[in-house]
Amino acid sequence: MDDVVRIFDTTLRDGEQSPGFSMTPAEKLELARQLEALRVDVIEAGFPVASPGDQDAVRTVAREVRGSTIAALARANPRDVEAAVEALRQAARPRVHVFIATSPIHMAHKLRLKPDEVVEAATAAVRLARRFTDDVEFSAEDASRSEVEFLCRVFDAVIRSGATVINVPDTVGYTTPHEYAALIKSLRERVKDSDRVIWSVHCHDDLGLAVANSLAAVAAGARQVECTINGIGERAGNAALEEIVMALRTRRDAYGAHTGIDTTRLHRTSRLLTAVTGVAVQPNKAVVGENAFAHEAGIHQHGVLVNRTTYEIMRPEDVGLPKNRLVMGKHSGRHAFRRVLEDQGVRLDEPALDRTFARFKALADRKKQVAIEDILALVDEEVRAAPARYTLRSFHVITGTGVPPAATVTLDSEGGPATASASGDGPVDALCAAVNTMTGLQAQLVGYGIRAVTGGTDALGEVTARVREGETVVVGRASSTDVLEGSVRAYLDAVNRLVAARDATRAGDPAWA
Ligand code: KIV
Ligand code: ZN
Repeated sequence: MDDVVRIFDTTLRDGEQSPGFSMTPAEKLELARQLEALRVDVIEAGFPVASPGDQDAVRTVAREVRGSTIAALARANPRDVEAAVEALRQAARPRVHVFIATSPIHMAHKLRLKPDEVVEAATAAVRLARRFTDDVEFSAEDASRSEVEFLCRVFDAVIRSGATVINVPDTVGYTTPHEYAALIKSLRERVKDSDRVIWSVHCHDDLGLAVANSLAAVAAGARQVECTINGIGERAGNAALEEIVMALRTRRDAYGAHTGIDTTRLHRTSRLLTAVTGVAVQPNKAVVGENAFAHEAGIHQHGVLVNRTTYEIMRPEDVGLPKNRLVMGKHSGRHAFRRVLEDQGVRLDEPALDRTFARFKALADRKKQVAIEDILALVDEEVRAAPARYTLRSFHVITGTGVPPAATVTLDSEGGPATASASGDGPVDALCAAVNTMTGLQAQLVGYGIRAVTGGTDALGEVTARVREGETVVVGRASSTDVLEGSVRAYLDAVNRLVAARDATRAGDPAWA
């Protein structure tokens, strides 16, 4: 058995299907490019039969992302498999991922199929997928609650039909590390030709055991782990990619296996997902949380200063966090600014660099010390901003105890500047209402979040605004040391995305909406 654990990322499929995490095809492509740079082995880009948007997203990722295998999910029926094959047509390395449930509960109540019929559907789907690609994965949904005898029968049959990867999902997050390891070991021993396939695991986190279960399975011989960035996914989520990867790296002595992931990109990938979805990770989240490398207690700080290994089992720079947090001030020049970005693996073209540098200078005027985190927030805003149909020229807000909140906003657009005033339940509500008056959109702020990028009262605030118009939901983002300015700019970013989506729909390209 080799010692390489393949990382199969399902952020764009299992992650995206959970509430609050939906992404447009353009956002999926942006994340897929980042996953490729992270050197993920397999990117599950979607479930093509589910919707035209999913089909289009898989097709686009398959065409554009050449460095990773691209997988598409299909239930074990011809229509699903054909949709997956169609979406993967242009992939450099396509994988069709076929699944069907094998547990008594699922077969009886969900599928209403007899075990023989499940075996028949599974093998027929695998055979069909093999006509298109040599790389076919088969998943036995709810495997951890299935009978081992039946799992062996199904796996024997699908391997004979051409499956090359066998996945054993803990679909409902029910298993425990010992039990799961024993299951993987037993399957590897009992299934015929088990050494010709890659054994894969896919764990959900309902009992908070997804990472522990996945690692136990690796110790028992699994050589593919399915996981998601920040652990997003159905219900309590999937196993977190960054935790699996850093556990295997930090405890190579215990697992004797490694991944090909470029760990220095973990932090940035986590941030990108947060930016795209508007959902932040909790501060104490392992590996990528804000406090993951912060030492607060005096005794710990002293220890780390004397010798970092006293309390640090991983180096922040190994996951892509800056070693040195306070870097620049208002006297820093463009050259130094560019160097800082390059150190972070960020490349901007000259106009984008000029714009970001100008915003950095404005920030440095308001804030004595600018941290790398601040600069990365400005970069994120630059690279992720929607095409700007409307830009903010100025705003005024009246608010206070006993004063009805009111806002006046002036926006620039193709038709020249325009000003509108509105009142609201609060200052942010009033700002959004004033913007709506000018754009004519029936947009509604359905989610709002603010995060201080660093500590201190002069901290840059990163605002995310989740905005809905009809069926379309987008996330806008902006950062500013003034939270009201950040709020109106984040709302405006979302409005620009809605306008772009509307234009794309009118141009007959609904998938990009
Ligand atoms: O949780 C699960 O069982 C799945 C399968 C489709 C692999 O997501
Ligand atoms: Zn799942």
